[in-house]
Amino acid sequence: MENPILIIGGKGKTGSRVADRLRARGQKIHFASRSTGFDWTDRSTWAAALDGVSAAYITYYPDLAVKTAPDDVEAFAKLAVSLGVKRLVLLSGRGEPAAQESEKRLIASGADWTIVRASWFNQNFDEGQFQPMILEGEMALPVSHVREPFIDANDIADVVVAALTDPRHIGELYEVTGPQLLTFAETIAEISKASGRKVVFQTIPTEDFVKGLTAAKVPGDVAELLVELFTVVLDGRNEYLTDGIERALGRPPKDFADYARDAAARGAWK
Ligand SMILES: NC(=O)c1ccc[n+]([C@@H]2O[C@H](COP(=O)([O-])OP(=O)(O)OC[C@H]3O[C@@H](n4cnc5c(N)ncnc54)[C@H](OP(=O)(O)O)[C@@H]3O)[C@@H](O)[C@H]2O)c1
Repeated sequence: MENPILIIGGKGKTGSRVADRLRARGQKIHFASRSTGFDWTDRSTWAAALDGVSAAYITYYPDLAVKTAPDDVEAFAKLAVSLGVKRLVLLSGRGEPAAQESEKRLIASGADWTIVRASWFNQNFDEGQFQPMILEGEMALPVSHVREPFIDANDIADVVVAALTDPRHIGELYEVTGPQLLTFAETIAEISKASGRKVVFQTIPTEDFVKGLTAAKVPGDVAELLVELFTVVLDGRNEYLTDGIERALGRPPKDFADYARDAAARGAWK
């Protein structure tokens, strides 16, 4: 495509990887996030981001699980279509009512859509919320035996790039997971093994988790989101594997142990 592809959240966990892959193919890209003047909380900033682009990768912030997401995704998709940007790829989440409603709104918008509905990312452990806990040697969360099929952001980026560059993916919803269901204690054991760092996992009551977020001055809306993700979404509803990576890419997803080994080798937990 001669015109640039828009990446919303282009410096984030999946957006940065999508950008690297598109650039390597010689594709021009445009970034949109607060650092470029685009803000999900200010609709007057949206049209400028869509100017002259041929397609868009949409990552919502802070999370598609929040109640503003469906209206915002619908409004953004309709604006994009009205400006001639029909090719839209949405990053979504599993088992979150607002995320699934956002998907429906995108589908109804008139866009040439693809949805990548992802499980929790491996990269939360080295680029996201969990990294400071690992560096402190203790991960304390209000979850116990529930298992999550953590997925690698590189696999998500491969699917997104395929979707943005190949019209065969139009109208496809890829529910993507990693190859294994793991408890948080098991992920921490893998990270300890790979990094040589002693990290322990502890299940704590939700009240203690909330107290910790307050003490760490986590903003109220973000704290509320985290509590919902851990206590509602992580209730076992997502405890199953899917074939989305295989279906979109014709290969299996990356294993968590391989991710932990590669991240440790890069010095992620030094
Ligand atoms: N993390 C997971 O495990 C997971 C799993 C499934 C789905 N998802 C979905 O992935 C999406 C991204 O989540 P993430 O935590 O992984 O974040 P992320 O993509 O790593 O990074 C956030 C990006 O959003 C931008 N941003 C922050 N506030 C913004 C705002 N008000 N308006 C526009 N851009 C803003 C940031 O750039 P600036 O600072 O320049 O604004 C940054 O580029 C969410 O919609 C979430 O539902 C995440």
